[in-house]
Amino acid sequence: MVHELCQQLLLTDEQVQELCYRILHELRRGLAKDTNPKANVKCFVTYVQDLPNGNERGKFLALDLGGTNFRVLLIHLQENNDFQMESRIYAIPQHIMIGSGLQLFDHIAECLSNFMAEHNVYKERLPLGFTFSFPLRQLGLTKGLLETWTKGFNCAGVVNEDVVQLLKDAIARRGDVQIDVCAILNDTTGTLMSCAWKNHNCKIGLIVGTGANACYMERVEEAELFVAEDPRKKHVLINTEWGAFGDNGALDFVRTEFDRDIDVHSINPGKQTFEKMISGMYMGELVRLVLVKMTQAGILFNGQDSEVLNTRGLFFTKYVSEIEADEPGTFTNCRLVLEELGLTNATDGDCANVRYICECVSKRAAHLVSAGIATLINKMDEPTVTVGIDGSVYRFHPKFHNLMVEKISQLVKPGITFDLMLSEDGSGRGAALVAAVACREDILNS
Ligand code: BG6
Ligand code: GLC
Repeated sequence: MVHELCQQLLLTDEQVQELCYRILHELRRGLAKDTNPKANVKCFVTYVQDLPNGNERGKFLALDLGGTNFRVLLIHLQENNDFQMESRIYAIPQHIMIGSGLQLFDHIAECLSNFMAEHNVYKERLPLGFTFSFPLRQLGLTKGLLETWTKGFNCAGVVNEDVVQLLKDAIARRGDVQIDVCAILNDTTGTLMSCAWKNHNCKIGLIVGTGANACYMERVEEAELFVAEDPRKKHVLINTEWGAFGDNGALDFVRTEFDRDIDVHSINPGKQTFEKMISGMYMGELVRLVLVKMTQAGILFNGQDSEVLNTRGLFFTKYVSEIEADEPGTFTNCRLVLEELGLTNATDGDCANVRYICECVSKRAAHLVSAGIATLINKMDEPTVTVGIDGSVYRFHPKFHNLMVEKISQLVKPGITFDLMLSEDGSGRGAALVAAVACREDILNS
């Protein structure tokens, strides 16, 4: 029964192929000038054209907003690919996440100022890279208008505004610290840059965390919206914002009743359709919805539910990773999770079914991401590509990496090789590198 009900969560090879085809179509619509205004996958130009070459040096501040944690960082890039990094996580209270933009940026500036005081750089004027992980219509390396909020944020007065200016204004309102905002970037860009510092084949940045998104190195002639200034530079980094893929119905052929439920109850119905089928913000809730349906049908837990199981948002995505980390035939983590949910009478059969449901949801997510990554790799058509990856789902799920390697291998053109590289230090170092590349002497003088 459980296997039958979960059938809708499994993607056939034909469906995955069809997805690749549709993703490519949407990417092309985003890249082309005439179709971009109506495209869901916006393919934003990042203005990043140079990957790090290892010669970047100096002391930088970075802000990292939009993942699970808001962080302020101080990064010192040194000789021989060496670096020092200090960082601190600050909370963004829920009321600020959905409050006014003014409050949000005042809070960010306050954290920055506190951090500078604690790290003895209060009096210094330092360059800053701002990782802002939301869809941004960039007009340059230091100018970008917020297209729309995603994930759990919804601050008033920021959409269509220049986010760099809002940050500068907040810093000026305080008047206590001096900052040069040198670059604004997406977390996918930060991840790519961070990985490219060590691995020059890294040409794709991927996040599978709270949200899901990818960026990649595109040929300048393909990026019609990019006004190139230096004809010698042949590539530009594109932030696909593929989380919005499917907002026009392109994913309806694989969406389920559970996906529609998630969407209707989200703070942004009708938006980020692809992301809602993949990322950590929704994965646990997807599993919970399947569990509730099966319990109500009497197939699980002898039909006995619990208040926690019936409450939205209380089946955390980390539970999926924990349950799937149990050794085959054992259910230690699974039972602990079920106890937290107030389900104490689960049989081994129940546990096996709960694990199967988790596997279906996470495998589908991995296959959707793989379809996107294989499409990018095939489009780039380079012999070897490394994908730099970050995000709690990829980092902590015990099988996500292997599921992706297996699926991407089936989908890439013969002769192309790829590897998936975990970004070890988050996108903070990437933010410093984008800022550093922007002011790298050899580039300024060229
Ligand atoms: C962090 C990066 O490591 O991962 C962030 O520094 C990024 O920039 C985040 O947004 C994504 O993962 P999660 O799971 O925190 O959303
Ligand atoms: C959301 C954001 C995107 C970000 C991703 C991962 O999709 O819109 O900018 O890269 O989450 O954090």
